[in-house]
Amino acid sequence: MTPTIAIIGGTGLTSLNTLEITHRENQSTPYGEPSSPLIQGKLSGRTVVFLARHGLHHTLPPHKINYRANLWALQRIGIKHIIAIAAVGGIRNDMAPGVLAFPDQLIDYTWGRQGTFFDENLTQVTHIDFTEPYCPQLRGRLIQAAQLLNLGARESCTYAAMQGPRLETAAEIRKLERDGCDIVGMTGMPEAALARELDLRYATCAIVANWAAGKAAGEISMAEIERNLQESMARVKLLLTELVPIIDPS
Ligand code: HPA
Repeated sequence: MTPTIAIIGGTGLTSLNTLEITHRENQSTPYGEPSSPLIQGKLSGRTVVFLARHGLHHTLPPHKINYRANLWALQRIGIKHIIAIAAVGGIRNDMAPGVLAFPDQLIDYTWGRQGTFFDENLTQVTHIDFTEPYCPQLRGRLIQAAQLLNLGARESCTYAAMQGPRLETAAEIRKLERDGCDIVGMTGMPEAALARELDLRYATCAIVANWAAGKAAGEISMAEIERNLQESMARVKLLLTELVPIIDPS
């Protein structure tokens, strides 16, 4: 079966042991190499492809990821739905470490990234609608699966895409809060926009790894981020197992 569902794994999810792997494919694209091979296998009875956003050994920082190659490679093999897993910092009061959140809006603060396929050799200038940056149907399925599992996921929030790789200052987080952002990460853009340009259904499952800068006393500890992510991954895998079978075929 040609796979139509892809999971892009982020920090804390460089492999998916619930996937019964059938084969791996190295794809090259007009934009260069994707972050990792496309790992194909079975999850809940459906064929699914897994891509490690930061590479299989977590060596690509957010600003060095070849987002265009990743999205292009997935579309080329016939993918229609993308579930993006993303570690974030929590800004809103109910975004404590360990919480799962499904953003419905984003603000892009990144710079200098290759953010469009409509760049060169154009026959006409192309703009995409991005009013709703995440696919409402796929988000609906994420919400449904999380409710079935009683995960207490946050079903609506705004994602701030920051440049990184450093974490933010406390003042930057206060600014993001004034802007209406609830969670903050580094890889949500241009990934979401490129998916839309290719007409792919795209939704994000964010995992809060830490309180954003200034939201808790003291510095942010990388060890704590890792521990929180590790603790949360079992729930993310459970969610994916519940979600995959209820994704609409087209
Ligand atoms: N800021 C930005 N990206 C992140 C954070 C954060 O606090 N935590 C995990 N990814």
